[in-house]
Amino acid sequence: MLISKFANEKPRCKSISNFQNNRMQTSKRLEGIGEYYFSQKLREIDELNKQGKNVINLGIGSPDLPPHPDVIKTLQEESAKPNVHAYQSYKGSLVLRKAISDWYKKWYDVELNADTEILPLIGSKEGIMHICMTYLDEGDKVLVPNPGYPTYRSAVKLAGGECVDYELKEENNWEPDFDALEKLVVSSSSPTGGGRAGAFKLMWINYPQMPTGQLPTKSLFEKIVAFGKKHNILICHDNPYSFILNDNPLSLLHVPGAKEVAIELNSLSKSQNMAGWRVGVLSGAKERIDEVLRFKSNMDSGMFLPVQLAAAKALQLPKSWYNDVNTVYRKRREIVFELLDLLQCVYDKSQAGMFVWAKIPSNYKTGFELSDEVLYNTGVFITPGGIFGNAGDGYIRVSLCSTEEKFAESIKRIKAFLPVLKVK
Ligand SMILES: Cc1ncc(COP(=O)(O)O)c(C=O)c1O
Repeated sequence: MLISKFANEKPRCKSISNFQNNRMQTSKRLEGIGEYYFSQKLREIDELNKQGKNVINLGIGSPDLPPHPDVIKTLQEESAKPNVHAYQSYKGSLVLRKAISDWYKKWYDVELNADTEILPLIGSKEGIMHICMTYLDEGDKVLVPNPGYPTYRSAVKLAGGECVDYELKEENNWEPDFDALEKLVVSSSSPTGGGRAGAFKLMWINYPQMPTGQLPTKSLFEKIVAFGKKHNILICHDNPYSFILNDNPLSLLHVPGAKEVAIELNSLSKSQNMAGWRVGVLSGAKERIDEVLRFKSNMDSGMFLPVQLAAAKALQLPKSWYNDVNTVYRKRREIVFELLDLLQCVYDKSQAGMFVWAKIPSNYKTGFELSDEVLYNTGVFITPGGIFGNAGDGYIRVSLCSTEEKFAESIKRIKAFLPVLKVK
């Protein structure tokens, strides 16, 4: 082992020893913000692997398949050119914005002005933070789905806002209960409700919904736009899953007048198998794009041009690309259904997106209990639904981003340990 020759010397400077012995005081805004669940869990899985457990991770939704070869070829060819390595425009290259605009027209029948209504992002996750930082002041209220993507909650808190959950229930097809929403907004905004009028600024929605896999309907989107207009709340729709196991992609911006009150995030991470490339997009009215750009342009200095050009290529892929991706996910999903049957979980077969969401049997208190029992006995990791909010406590989520062989091996392991599992 390499040991510094200074290892036995006493620190000469007091501040150095303070740094060595104490943790730095983190900002108040980080209070209540834990490390992202998966980042912690992956460390634990690493530890188990070091002990020889060989864990199969059925948790994270990161596509294991590559992008289309033409996309990779574009990146290779473009990055070999000498004049593509400088800082790029804060608004993204026009080639990419034009490709996004054409993609929205072709698949969602939505008109977007490539000059003014599109802002490419370094993944949609950063867009969630930018939107919160752009619009929220200390104490502003935000409606967040429970269960829902945990980043909405942490971004709202980091920006100083206050999360107000709206519960999604299975018996309501995982759609918001609009009567309950009305009551929530009115009671929190009235003086007796302790809030101030207009305190609700944003509402996060996400259909196809993660983690439940619920598809949107046109009428749901119309109701949400009407709700935003009535209460002057900016509707932020997060739409990364519309092509996965779904033949009818919908955009909230298709609703007439939606741009007056809504913005939409989209992503190439899932539909184009480009999660690590970090390419997303924010679309909406020119004014919203300009507002978010005011914040974002202070945070980064554009995206590598060859990545943008390759992303533009990916957006031009024909229907057969999406069909091929979905053929793979469909086959995998059949094996996941088998795995869930073994665990006596109940699920809806018509879910969209790259996960299967399933209700756990009654002999487990929560999905955490089932997930831990399966992980520690069989070395298979399944996401507990409770990480998406307490309304997900009675559920688990299995990612489709593993090979058929890995799912088959998971089934084998679970079968072998079935006699010791509570589920039997
Ligand atoms: C609902 C939802 N929104 C956004 C993201 C982030 O996507 P991106 O890779 O574009 O940042 C994810 C990723 O898992 C997600 O599940």
